[in-house]
Parts: sequence; structure tokens; C-alpha cells
Amino acid sequence: MINIAVFASGNGSNAENIIRYFKDNEEMRVALVLSNNQNAYVHTRAKNLGVPSYTFSKDEFDKGDPVLQKLQEYRIDFIVLAGFLLKVPEPILKAYPQRIVNIHPALLPKYGGKGMYGDRLHKAVIQAGEKESGITIHFVNECYDEGEIIFQARCPVLPSDTPEELAQRIHKLEYEYYPQVIEKTAKQVCGGKEK
Ligand code: GAR
Repeated sequence: MINIAVFASGNGSNAENIIRYFKDNEEMRVALVLSNNQNAYVHTRAKNLGVPSYTFSKDEFDKGDPVLQKLQEYRIDFIVLAGFLLKVPEPILKAYPQRIVNIHPALLPKYGGKGMYGDRLHKAVIQAGEKESGITIHFVNECYDEGEIIFQARCPVLPSDTPEELAQRIHKLEYEYYPQVIEKTAKQVCGGKEK
């Protein structure tokens, strides 16, 4: 069994979608949800779906422990960032080389980097007059949104779009593709691992 941990800072609709997707999978499952925000709605979603969740502070995260300890306790093999807004620190990157993926709601390398999330990002895309946007799934490295790209999908940006409308279109792409890409990538990098 490949054990996946999902990190989310807020609402957690992707986290929920991923948990549901793997619910009956015999090879992998979401074993733990982690957040830097105690009040994040993702905790409620995890609870409703019977997945344990854990909160850590930014300081704890940057040190590595106790987050690493938690990951070991739940025998986590693969890490998924889904609406997670902190930079992953070196101790965790080192413990999970090429085993951490992120989803970004734009077509990287454009519209990436610190602060590029939520309405601000979609507003920037609309204001620049882009004709299309989309999602990028990539491996995580020490720089925000700069790891190797695994997958991209595109959608149109309409001149009349509000940031909310564009976000909704992008969320649809995320729900459709993120679980599949996680499944394929986790199998490739952790495949054959007995737990
Ligand atoms: C998603 O659109 C995700 O791509 C984005 O946050 C949203 C979280 O939604 N992530 C980033 O912007 C990371 N830079 P959710 O909490 O409903 O899954």
C-alpha cells in the first residue's frame, strides 16, 4: 500500500476529491491530511471522510520535526500539496526526493511564485488579456512553482470572466486530472513498495 499525505492550507476541495478518488483503491490511499491552519475547512472534510488530520505551525514545519515524525508515524510514501501555501523546507524535501507534487492553478512558468494564488492570480491572468489558463502539476523543489512539470491542462479565459468564474473552470480541471496524475506518478516513484 502506498500511503499518501495531503497538505492543504484552506478550503480543501481538492484534498476531499483526492481522498474520495482513492477510497476503494487497493494500492494507495490518503493516510493523513496536514495543514498549517488549525481552522482550515480541510480538517472538517478529512474528519467526515475518516482520514486523520494534523496541524503544525510554520516554525515546526521549517525545522522539519515534528512534521517529519508525523509522516513517519503514518508511513507516508508520497506527498501531495493541494492548496498549500507554505514553501516546503529542506528537511522534508530531502526526506522525499521526487516524491512531493503540487498543483498550481495557472500555466507555469507564467503566473507562478510567492503570492500567486487565489483571486489575485486569476485577476492577473484576466487583466493581462490571456486567452487561456489552466493547471500545472509539478514536482516540488526549493523554489516556489519551479520544479519539473509533470502535466498541464488548458481552459479558455473569456473576456467577460470574473476571477471567481475562471477559478471555477480551473477547479474543474483540477478535480478531473489531479487524482489521476497522482496515481500514475506515485506508482512510478513508489511502485512495488510493500508496507
Ligand atoms: C487550488 O486551485 C490550487 O490549485 C491552488 O489553491 C486552490 C485550493 O483550492 N493552489 C495554489 O494556488 C498554490 N500556489 P482547494 O482548497 O479548494 O483545494
